[in-house]
Amino acid sequence: LKIAATAAAALMMTTAAHAACDAGEMVIKFSHVTNTDKHPKGIAASLLQSRVNEEMNGKACMEVYGNSSLYNDDQVLEAMLNGDVQLAAPSLSKFETFTKKFRIFDLPFMFKNIDAVDAFQASETGQGLLDSMQRRGLQGLAYWHNGMKQISANKPLLLPSDAKGLKFRVQPSEVLKAQFAALEANPQAMAFSEVYGALQTGVVDGQENTWSNIYGQKFFEVQDGTTETNHGVIDYLVVTSVDWLEGLDADVREQFLTILDEVTADRNGDSFQVNEEAKQSIIDAGGEVRQLTEEQRAAWVDAMKPVWAEFEGDVGAENIEAAQKINA
Ligand code: LMR
Repeated sequence: LKIAATAAAALMMTTAAHAACDAGEMVIKFSHVTNTDKHPKGIAASLLQSRVNEEMNGKACMEVYGNSSLYNDDQVLEAMLNGDVQLAAPSLSKFETFTKKFRIFDLPFMFKNIDAVDAFQASETGQGLLDSMQRRGLQGLAYWHNGMKQISANKPLLLPSDAKGLKFRVQPSEVLKAQFAALEANPQAMAFSEVYGALQTGVVDGQENTWSNIYGQKFFEVQDGTTETNHGVIDYLVVTSVDWLEGLDADVREQFLTILDEVTADRNGDSFQVNEEAKQSIIDAGGEVRQLTEEQRAAWVDAMKPVWAEFEGDVGAENIEAAQKINA
């Protein structure tokens, strides 16, 4: 009976969260994998949902499914092409089977901070990448920021040699696999929803992610500590299917894209702060956060940066150069 009551309560909550759609409204399902508050993507998705549901009432209705409750990132793009979900925002590391061009975002130490990432994305090259998967049926609509990646393990990591021989969870990206191979560590690709359990049971020893993900998924609870390396970036592509977008009435499409642009500008401006707050929450909860000396940081750069040469052909030397100019 207790189980039945709990299940009924859970069902009611789910129904309540998605009760806004009226008959005749076009339903826009948005699936993502992170927590829904205290997270750049979670907050942006909720804001998009409330604006669409208010301003497009009668025409469209958005349902957001966070926390991998509908799809994992390795399923969501296929589901989108099948018309089962209309919107997602996977990290740029999760498009390998569609394009190799996003590999530039995974190259370690390519961008010095999230402002540099923002400037690159706003450039002609960055905007052009939004259209790079049209032939495969996917349309990039916007970039959403998370932030810079930090690295954690079940032992202190101060020098690259500390990572040697350890198993690290990575997103499904060849660049990220090469990055850990360069440390003589063992990368293991795994869905986001499985990482906490894998760290807890020792299936992997460590991981890399942003403060908001390390806090939101509680990775810090099952790690010795997190080292502030800022060695890479996790950013998102808000993506839809070409067919769905083309099928919309022009006025509906325009209104939806305008709301999305405004939400993007609004939330991207706050993503750094959201991550800083998550870092502080980790510290407040007793998580260890380690800083590097300049020499130690230089050692991580030396160990990881050779990976660039491996992928120069995929991402284009001119794009690497453009990204570096932004850093200067
Ligand atoms: C990850 O898999 O670590 C991230 O891409 C999750 C996310 O969406 O931030």
